Amino acid sequence: MERTFLMVKPDGVQRGLIGEITARFEKKGFKLAGAKLMNISEELAKEHYGEHKERPFFGELVEFITSGPVFAMVWEGKDVIATARFMMGKTNPAEAAPGTIRGDYAVQVSNNIIHGSDSPESAVREIGLFFKEEELVAYDKSV
Ligand code: CMP
Repeated sequence: MERTFLMVKPDGVQRGLIGEITARFEKKGFKLAGAKLMNISEELAKEHYGEHKERPFFGELVEFITSGPVFAMVWEGKDVIATARFMMGKTNPAEAAPGTIRGDYAVQVSNNIIHGSDSPESAVREIGLFFKEEELVAYDKSV
């Protein structure tokens, strides 16, 4: 079964949106395979966002993601990587459709509530950065 890494960012946690966000993925039919409320170290932030290290906003990105607790999650289900990205909406909330998470709850690209893996390779890498395999549960494959 496909898995993805999703994370409610510090702005989403601070605004009390963990329940709203997890409810959307549960109601859609995905299964939560692991979750933790945590603070991200600067080292982990730089590793996680390594592909953006040459971008002018990299420093701001690391500072923001380490500014408060995040809610890190692993979700599983059919086509969960692409479907979760669709449910999140475009990276820039100004372009995210109403009904999507960013479309409904965010206005700034730097504070866009949620992160989600963008490919199967990213999902494996990001899940591995945040979770040990024994922290994830296995569901009945027939469900
Ligand atoms: P995310 O999906 O977590 O992946 C990289 C993040 O960089 C992205 O969400 C945005 O929050 C952030 N980002 C993208 N463009 C900018 C920008 N121009 N200024 C600040 N942050 C940005």
